[in-house]
Amino acid sequence: MSAQRMALKQPESFAFSAAAEKEIDMWVAKYPADRQRSALIPALWIAQKDAGGWLPEVTMRTVADKLGMAYIRVYEVATFYTMYSLAPVGEHFIQLCGTTPCWLRGSDDLKAVMQRRVGGQNTISADGKLSWLEVECLGACSNAPMIQISNADGDHYYEDLTAESFDALLDKLVAGEKPAQGPQNTRHTSEPEGGATVLIDASIYKQGRKLTKLPNQVKKLEIVRHAGSAKAAPVKASSAKSTKPKAAAKPKAVETATPKAQSAAKPAPKVLYTDGPTEGTPDDLKVIKGIGPVFERELNEKGIYYYRQIGAWKAADVKMVEAEALSRFPGRIKRDEWVKQAKVLAKSAAKAG
Ligand code: FES
Repeated sequence: MSAQRMALKQPESFAFSAAAEKEIDMWVAKYPADRQRSALIPALWIAQKDAGGWLPEVTMRTVADKLGMAYIRVYEVATFYTMYSLAPVGEHFIQLCGTTPCWLRGSDDLKAVMQRRVGGQNTISADGKLSWLEVECLGACSNAPMIQISNADGDHYYEDLTAESFDALLDKLVAGEKPAQGPQNTRHTSEPEGGATVLIDASIYKQGRKLTKLPNQVKKLEIVRHAGSAKAAPVKASSAKSTKPKAAAKPKAVETATPKAQSAAKPAPKVLYTDGPTEGTPDDLKVIKGIGPVFERELNEKGIYYYRQIGAWKAADVKMVEAEALSRFPGRIKRDEWVKQAKVLAKSAAKAG
């Protein structure tokens, strides 16, 4: 069982860094004005990172003030979840799973290693490098026993451990090395030791989850710029195709025309092909309810960077995205109204721009 106590020695003040505040604002914006406290869990997580890996009381109060919550409500959450540390932690903070599957597979041996090297839970090793806490199931039971290590490199799982491999892992961390994450035996993920025995036909993985085509990819996006207009308007590939050769033949004339000449000129379409987020800073797709960091990364990898791209999806496009990227979550795009949200966001982005 975990045992957390607030540190006796507490800092007197705390202020969010600009980056942390921006990230918290992003989470807050996902909820209606009278439900901003719903962002408490990510806000505390970001604040913890911002405060150096733990949550001083003053930091919790700062989060409470930001979300308009009573301090006690924030304490209730922060003291319940072991993902929050209420006292300083070592450079490498180890959360050691002691729940039944890990216990059956030897978590007591791992605990003994920590006790030998560091001492009890919530103490920091003399060199400041290590501290640990026993926690409940971290959701990687098929790779029991396992731990999570939080440090400057992030939060990562190390699995299929023995006392020996755990000791060696700690040696590497203390020496400043970066040991490989994941299983610490011969397994690649959670297949049987010695290799997979089913689903071994390579052909079934040909397509996998690899996204091959999404609608409105930047790579394929054709943007028509009209002389005299500073704004770019995305158009369908089919409607722009016929203008491409003509526009490509006279690019300079359009770019060098004076504003006066441009406004006087009859709008001459020029088609641009972009292959990255070249239309300014990419939009924060996570603002769209239902899109988290993983979906955003997958969309970015396929050239979707802007609200206007998603806002232009038609029913067939949504169907394609669901088939290729979101088969695990059927109906999600429609249910969360990505397209509707994206249209509104694109409009305000265009106004702001
Ligand atoms: S029991 Fe340890 S990860 Fe689930």
